[in-house]
Amino acid sequence: MAHASELIADDIEAYLTSHQYKSLLRFITCGSVDDGKSTLIGRLLYESHLVFEDHLAALAADSAKVGTQGGDLDFALLLDGLSAEREQGITIDVAYRFFSTEQRKFIVADTPGHEQYTRNMVTGASTADVAVILVDARKGVLTQTRRHSFLVSLLGIRRVVVAVNKMDLVGFDEEILDAIRTEYLDFAGRIGLDDVTFIPLSALRGDNVVEPSPNTPWYHGPTLLGYLETVAVDDDTATLPFRMPVQWVNRPDLDFRGFSGRIVGGTVRPGDPVRVLPAGTTSTVARIVTMDGDLDEAVAGQSVTLTLADEIDASRGDVICAGDAPCEVADQFEAHVVWMHEDAMLPGRPYLMKIGTRTVGVTLGHPKYRIDVNNLDHLAATTLELNEIGVCNVSTDRPIPFDAYTGNRDMGGFVIIDRQTQNTVGAGLLHFALRRSHNIHWQDVQVDKAARADMNLHRPGVVWFTGLSGSGKSTVANVVESKLHAMGVRTYLLDGDNVRHGLNRDLGFTDADRVENIRRIAEVAGLMVDAGLVVLTAFISPFRAERQLARDRVEPGEFVEVFVDTPLEVAEERDPKGLYRKARAGDLVNFTGIDSPYEPPEAPEVRVDTTALSPEQAADLVIDALRSLRIVP
Ligand code: ADX
Repeated sequence: MAHASELIADDIEAYLTSHQYKSLLRFITCGSVDDGKSTLIGRLLYESHLVFEDHLAALAADSAKVGTQGGDLDFALLLDGLSAEREQGITIDVAYRFFSTEQRKFIVADTPGHEQYTRNMVTGASTADVAVILVDARKGVLTQTRRHSFLVSLLGIRRVVVAVNKMDLVGFDEEILDAIRTEYLDFAGRIGLDDVTFIPLSALRGDNVVEPSPNTPWYHGPTLLGYLETVAVDDDTATLPFRMPVQWVNRPDLDFRGFSGRIVGGTVRPGDPVRVLPAGTTSTVARIVTMDGDLDEAVAGQSVTLTLADEIDASRGDVICAGDAPCEVADQFEAHVVWMHEDAMLPGRPYLMKIGTRTVGVTLGHPKYRIDVNNLDHLAATTLELNEIGVCNVSTDRPIPFDAYTGNRDMGGFVIIDRQTQNTVGAGLLHFALRRSHNIHWQDVQVDKAARADMNLHRPGVVWFTGLSGSGKSTVANVVESKLHAMGVRTYLLDGDNVRHGLNRDLGFTDADRVENIRRIAEVAGLMVDAGLVVLTAFISPFRAERQLARDRVEPGEFVEVFVDTPLEVAEERDPKGLYRKARAGDLVNFTGIDSPYEPPEAPEVRVDTTALSPEQAADLVIDALRSLRIVP
C-alpha cells in the first residue's frame, strides 16, 4: 500500500494516534457519472495515496486496455472497480469511502448519480457536513443540480461546494465560471444556501483538485482538497438538548438493567435528570457504561449504555431525554416527503415509518402541494411520483417521540417503508405536530363493545370477501347473510356497488381511489364490529396492504378473509355486468384483471373455488370458519 504518511512504516502506533486526533469531515458528492463524479472521487482517493497498490497496478493495466484517456490513469475505472467489488456482497445504496490526509479524515458518501437515485442521496446527505455538487462546465446548472441543491438544503447541509468540472473542455474560461456562479447563487439564495464556494476544476487532468492549476491563473480560491481540509466543521449536535433513542434494553442478569443506544443530541452525565418518552416517566442517570469502563460524561455521536436510578420501563424506540428539555410526543404531523419509488405514493395506504430506532405504522395524507425544483413553485398534486418532493400531513398509528428536523436531524428525519416488499419508498422530515394531535382526545363511553355484544347470541366480526369483479363475492355474501340471519345473527352487508352510490360516490377506480374506498370500508366495518354486528363486505379490494389495514382495524380472531378465487377467464366469461367486454374494447380503463392489478390473498381464512362449489356450499365453508372462530355458535 502506498501511504500518505511515512510514519506508518516506522511507527504504526504514532500513526494511529495522529489519526485519532484528526478531525473528521463527512461530505457527499452529488452529480451524475457524466459530470465526472467517479473520476473526481477516484482522484481524491488516489491523491491522498490511500489506494491499494494492487488496485493501482490493475488500474494502470485497465487504463491501457480500455481507458478512454490514452495512456493516463483512468480514475473512473478505479471507482467502478471498487463499486463492482462492493456489489459482490449485499447491495448497499450508498458507498461510504474513507480516506485521510495529514490534516483530516474524510468520509465521502458516494451516491449513484442517476435521476432516480434521490433515495441514495438523501441517505448519504443525512449525516454530511458539506455537499460537493458537480456541474459540467459545458452544461451549466441543470434541473438535477437544482434538485440536488434543494435536497441538500432541506436536509440541513449548510455548506456547499459547486465543483465546476471539465474546465479543460471550455478552455479554462473564467466567464463560464462567472455565468454558472451568477445563475447558481440566484437559486441558492432562494433555498437558503448562503455558504457556497465555486471551484473551477478538471477531475480528469487534476486541475485545482489537489494542486492549484496553472491553467486558471485568474482563480485565487482553494483547491477542492484544500477546501475540504480546512472548512470548519461545526458539529453542534453536542450543544442540543440530550437525546438517546433506546436501541436495546441490556439486561444480562437481574441486577443489571441498562438502556443502550447512540446519543443523537447533547451531553449526559451521571446525576442528570431524564425523562423517557413517550411514557413520560422520569428518573436520573445512575451510570454511563461502556466496554472500556464507566464514563463521567458522554456526548452526541457516542454509543453507550445508561443505567437509571429508578426501575422504570423503557423499550426499543423510546427516547431518553434531558429532564428539563424533553422532546415532543405526537401522532399527527406536517412533513416534507421525498418519494423514491417508481410506484407513486398512495395517500391513505398503510406504510411503515422508521424514525430513529422506532418503526410504526403510518399513513400519508394527500399532498398539500409538491415543489417544482426548477422555480420552487408550489404545484397542486394528488400524489407524489418518483423523485417528487412535497408537503403532506402524516399520521402514525401511535404517538411517537420526535423533534422537528431543523432542531435535530436524527429525531425528525424518517424513511417510509412498503409493508409488503419492505422497500424504502420515501423519506421525510417532520416539521411540527398538528394541533389536533394534542386536542382530539378519545372519548371514553359507558356502553362498550363487550356490553353491546352481550345482548347478542354471537360475537362480532368481519367477513371480508375479496376477488375479481364477477367472481361471485356478492352472490356468496348474500347466501351467507341469509343463513346467518336465519340463525339469529345480527348482520350487515356492505357491497361495493351499493356503497359506491352513497358513502363512496366521490371515488373512481384509480389505485389511489381504491385505497381510499377500502380505507373507508375498513373503518365502517370496524365501527360496526364495535356495534356488535357481524359485517360482511363484498369489494374487489385488490391490494394486500389495504386488506391488512381492514384486518388490523379489528381484534385478532374477529376477521375472516374469504378469497373468492375465480379465474379471470371464468369471471370474464360470466361478465354479469358486461364490464369485461367494455374493458377489452377499451371503453373502460383501470379495470381489475385487465389493466389494473389484483393481488391475491396469501393466507385467507377461507378460499372458495366457485368453479367447483355452488354458492350454498361456499357459504357453508364461510359459516364453518365463523364457527371455528366462535363468532357464531
Ligand atoms: S375496489 O377495487 O375499490 O374494491 P369495488 O369492489 O368497490 O372495487 O367496486 C367494484 C365494482 O365496480 C365492480 O364489481 C364493477 O361492477 C364496478 N366497476 C366499474 N368500473 C370498474 C373498474 N374499472 N374496475 C373494477 N370494477 C369496476
